[in-house]
Amino acid sequence: MQRRYYIHTFGCQMNESDSQRMGEALLRAGWQATEAADGADLVLVNTCAIREKAEDKLFSALGRYRLLKAQRGTRIGVAGCVAQQKKEALLHRAPFVDFVLGPDHLDKVPQLAEQGGIETDFIDSHEYLFPQADPETSRGRATAFVTAMKGCDNVCSFCVVPYTRGREVSRPDGEIVREVAALVAAGVREVTLIGQNVNSYAGGCTFAELIRRVASVPGILRIRFTTSHPMDLSPELVRCFSQVPQLMPHFHLPVQHGADSVLARMRRKYTIADYQRRIASLPPEVALTSDIICGFLGETEDEHRQNLEFLRCTPYDNLFSFLYSPRPHTGAILKMAEWGEVPREVALRRLEEVQSLQRARTLQRHRQRIGDRVEVLVEDRGFGRSRENWAVQFAGDAEVGDLVEVLVEKASPAALRGMQARVIDRAAAPATQQKRRLAVVSG
Ligand code: 5AD
Ligand code: SF4
Repeated sequence: MQRRYYIHTFGCQMNESDSQRMGEALLRAGWQATEAADGADLVLVNTCAIREKAEDKLFSALGRYRLLKAQRGTRIGVAGCVAQQKKEALLHRAPFVDFVLGPDHLDKVPQLAEQGGIETDFIDSHEYLFPQADPETSRGRATAFVTAMKGCDNVCSFCVVPYTRGREVSRPDGEIVREVAALVAAGVREVTLIGQNVNSYAGGCTFAELIRRVASVPGILRIRFTTSHPMDLSPELVRCFSQVPQLMPHFHLPVQHGADSVLARMRRKYTIADYQRRIASLPPEVALTSDIICGFLGETEDEHRQNLEFLRCTPYDNLFSFLYSPRPHTGAILKMAEWGEVPREVALRRLEEVQSLQRARTLQRHRQRIGDRVEVLVEDRGFGRSRENWAVQFAGDAEVGDLVEVLVEKASPAALRGMQARVIDRAAAPATQQKRRLAVVSG
């Protein structure tokens, strides 16, 4: 009988994409995917280190999988950012783990699953070979992530990513375009170009030029990208939003904080005035989203007030806000005593103020669309995303991959709801051919 694997994914889109590549490597080595950990011979946990809470989730998941190992000898592997960061220390804390692999060694998962061990060296050089996606595992899906670059050369003082993902390496543009073409041929209609700092892409052309080349792939319907640092936003990229019809009007451009003094401590290399100048050049239809950190080291009540003021006057479509979590090796942690920690209850209250401000505004923006028809790419039965990347639930019979018009009837902060009004464009490839679909869960 074929041996079965199960991958549990935490964290960002990069991790989801890495899980897919690891699944493909296991399929090539003769493994089979399973939808539940209970029936697996191998459980692989792909981890996130961005905040302490993300790390805690790993250890509670491992606690459950340890029982499985005791019952049926399941092998356990840990991949991703915590693996990269903790290396051997992870095996000390969880000695029942069979192998540990960092994000640069996705192809080695079948070998490590057999032999056990630790593989966490960075491959920083331009000799790094990006793992190729197998388009067959995306058959039956409307959307796919395509890796454009990896790593991050910024030095934001709160962030662990440079230590877990290494320095920036861009993937050659020809390779990216070929992968997009293969995915489109398998029925994928929308691609998201991903990288920790994707608009500093330098794999043979500029990022704006890469978007144009991807847009020239016959049959590609929609292009998105994530995530971006404000300092790498070029006028050429801004022009793409009005000149490349396939590029969707959504831009995730994390500001992190609305006070210059906090931005300086965060080493973000821009002021609020710089940021405002940059976003002012975007076409008005572009839905802007952002990340905010509350309770960063030394954040005063006045800085928090400046943050709220900035958020009030910036028309964000949506916001992801987080409590600051001190991370090992980062610049900020060295300054902890000097800058001082914000008491947890104060940080929580500030986070709640930021979130309630944004909740009200997102709801207002969603409500403005009631009665409108919005264009939705169907990702699942009755679910898809608008051009701005809003979640849309709808009643209707459209298939995965169809482009439909939905008449909006209701709105919540999380989603729009409505009725399918008409199919604009049917998916060419039948969505039923789910031959080698991977079992990848997130959460
Ligand atoms: N604590 C809290 N939030 C963080 N982020 C990154 N590092 C930390 C941290 N140490 C947030 C940033 C980033 C998003 C992915 O996570 O807002 O943009
Ligand atoms: Fe988490 Fe960052 Fe690693 Fe993504 S790159 S998994 S967000 S630590």
